[in-house]
Amino acid sequence: MRKQIAAANWKMNLSHQEADSLLDQLLASQHHLSSNQAVILAVPAIYIPLAVQKLNGKSNIFVAAQNCHQKSNGAYTGEIAASMYASVGVHHIILGHSERREFFAESDSLLAEKTEAVLAIGSTPIFCCGEPLSIREAETQNSFVEAQLKNALFQLSADQIVKVVIAYEPIWAIGSGKTATSEQAQEIHAYIRSVFAAKYGQNIADQISILYGGSVKAANAKEIFSQPDVDGGLVGGASLIATEFAAIINALKP
Ligand code: PGA
Repeated sequence: MRKQIAAANWKMNLSHQEADSLLDQLLASQHHLSSNQAVILAVPAIYIPLAVQKLNGKSNIFVAAQNCHQKSNGAYTGEIAASMYASVGVHHIILGHSERREFFAESDSLLAEKTEAVLAIGSTPIFCCGEPLSIREAETQNSFVEAQLKNALFQLSADQIVKVVIAYEPIWAIGSGKTATSEQAQEIHAYIRSVFAAKYGQNIADQISILYGGSVKAANAKEIFSQPDVDGGLVGGASLIATEFAAIINALKP
């Protein structure tokens, strides 16, 4: 059974005090997670030590980074390497979020390098893909997303690809309050799985967790997560409200 994952993407939000209090509220909601479920909190890098310390000893709850540099060290002022995150206990890293692709010009080939860097040190990339509105309107989202996956991930071996978590996030649904319908999510998630099956075989494709992202909230999580090829969500806005995110965690399939 592939993992069911509720991942929070705090983006560039919250003061240290607010982060501290949100973590406390989340921990107080006492989730019982099955061994097949995981909660991942991608907090701003500067709050990672705080989050790691608070989550110490909790099983199936992990702290994540929102990005990393593709090199392992060197003269890259302001950047953080995947190995540095690992050295403070962070082994999950979001890569290729649409905001990084758009505002920091991250290309598929750069993301291929970053993905390999994260896998090389034994950490888990949470690789984001997804189409803009114009592509959805032209109904070419499948080939658009397929190209993102091929260009950034198809150099990986089967042993490597099973360690990658995919987050499909249609850009038109991010922070817009417009969610893909559960049918739209299922359709493209099944397509993404078929792309991996064609390259790596069905057995490998069936092991890859594919999360949905884009205006997931307590009110729609259950319906979206219940789709057979949706293995949880990557959640922005609603992850900043403890009761919302707690309900989203509870909406995961067992
Ligand atoms: P949203 O963001 O839930 O606020 O739409 C999702 C994301 O960007 O990961």
